[in-house]
Amino acid sequence: MQNKIKLTFFLCGGIAIYKVPNVIRKLIKDNFDIRVVMTQTAQKFMNKEIFSVLTKHPVVVNNFANNGSVNHIEIAKKTDFAVIIPATANIISKIANGIADDIVTTTLLAIKDDKKIIFPAMNDVMYENIVIQENLHKLKQRNFKIMEPNYGFLAEGYDGKGRLPNLEEIVSFIKEEIKNKAIYQQQSILEKRVLITAGGTREFIDSVRFIGNQSSGKMGINLAIQADKAGFNVTLIAANVDSNLLDILPKTITLIEVITAEELLSKTKSLFLHNDMLIMAAAVADFKVENKLNHKLKKEELNDITLKLIKNPDILLELQKIKKRNQIVIGFAAETNDVVNNAKSKLKNKKMDAVILNDVSRIDIGFNSNDNEVTIFFKSGKEISLEKNSKEKIAKQIIDLIIREFFKNGTRNN
Ligand code: CTP
Repeated sequence: MQNKIKLTFFLCGGIAIYKVPNVIRKLIKDNFDIRVVMTQTAQKFMNKEIFSVLTKHPVVVNNFANNGSVNHIEIAKKTDFAVIIPATANIISKIANGIADDIVTTTLLAIKDDKKIIFPAMNDVMYENIVIQENLHKLKQRNFKIMEPNYGFLAEGYDGKGRLPNLEEIVSFIKEEIKNKAIYQQQSILEKRVLITAGGTREFIDSVRFIGNQSSGKMGINLAIQADKAGFNVTLIAANVDSNLLDILPKTITLIEVITAEELLSKTKSLFLHNDMLIMAAAVADFKVENKLNHKLKKEELNDITLKLIKNPDILLELQKIKKRNQIVIGFAAETNDVVNNAKSKLKNKKMDAVILNDVSRIDIGFNSNDNEVTIFFKSGKEISLEKNSKEKIAKQIIDLIIREFFKNGTRNN
């Protein structure tokens, strides 16, 4: 009994509640310890006794326990993960805005957001309503794990998106989320700090024109999101990343924006020492314009202009001068030819702990595309190739590999 994972189910007033007893039965069979909290409306759809008999725990329906303790705090303490199902438009909007006016909402407020798994289910038009979409977006940013409803036959008698997924889908979604979190908790990386750079720097020619590169920042942003999910304390330095991409960052990530390579160097240098690991995903311009103009270059001046380019500092090489032994430095190698040898040379020359090789000559992966395919070369000699996948999935795999290679039980492996 002691080692069972404790799930608290928060049941709301939606017709899809009829699927929940079977979900709970399956999870109990699979050795989870389950408690149930219900809203008033949920009880109109189903009798609470169904759940007390199934779970062998009294079902909680109000804030006061009649024994001097306060239910919502007691239940929150006994919750490893909260499952909100079916999540109605009402409950989504309340929890997105911090409203706590019944036993379900007060208890949820007393549980950390990254322990919450939520299953929206409602009428299709309600689900697509901008208010609900905005509130779901807020929850996502706060690290709630959200399972999208299915398209299918709704209680209204027609097909639409809003249907609670089926038993197997719900159960495997819950288990997958718990498995991911459990791996991370075991490895106790929760106190570890990681600095990630993303995007591409710009070097100005005059006050409005610049030399830039094609990096969108997608890879770095995804790495930051996955590192945050894994439990790292993440600081992201973003160089010229589109605001739509920055908008998807969870609020738990500290964001710093820069434009030029020099600004990136100065921010990275000052933050590096406060971090356990650096992942240098930004595409840094290797040169800048020496004779940069502080005003807008006029057409007449353009007839005869020569730009003199001078070298920018190499940030990774600069950081080597201040790096402490227990800090981990991971870089990227953006290559177009002789890719493996070039990546390996960078690993050695820049004294990195690992380098992630990205073949930027391919248009289906690399700069600006949504997919990537990479090989990671570790200092230990280990090489791992990741098949082409979305940048989100590649980022997750990279973070998992980094954790396995460098962190175990909260300490560095090598
Ligand atoms: N990098 C850096 N400072 C620079 C240039 C690159 O810290 N001035 C980092 C990048 O963020 C990346 C790694 O070094 O993690 C390799 O970058 P890449 O552009 O592949 O190579 P360069 O070092 O610039 O060398 P080259 O352009 O000759 O391939």
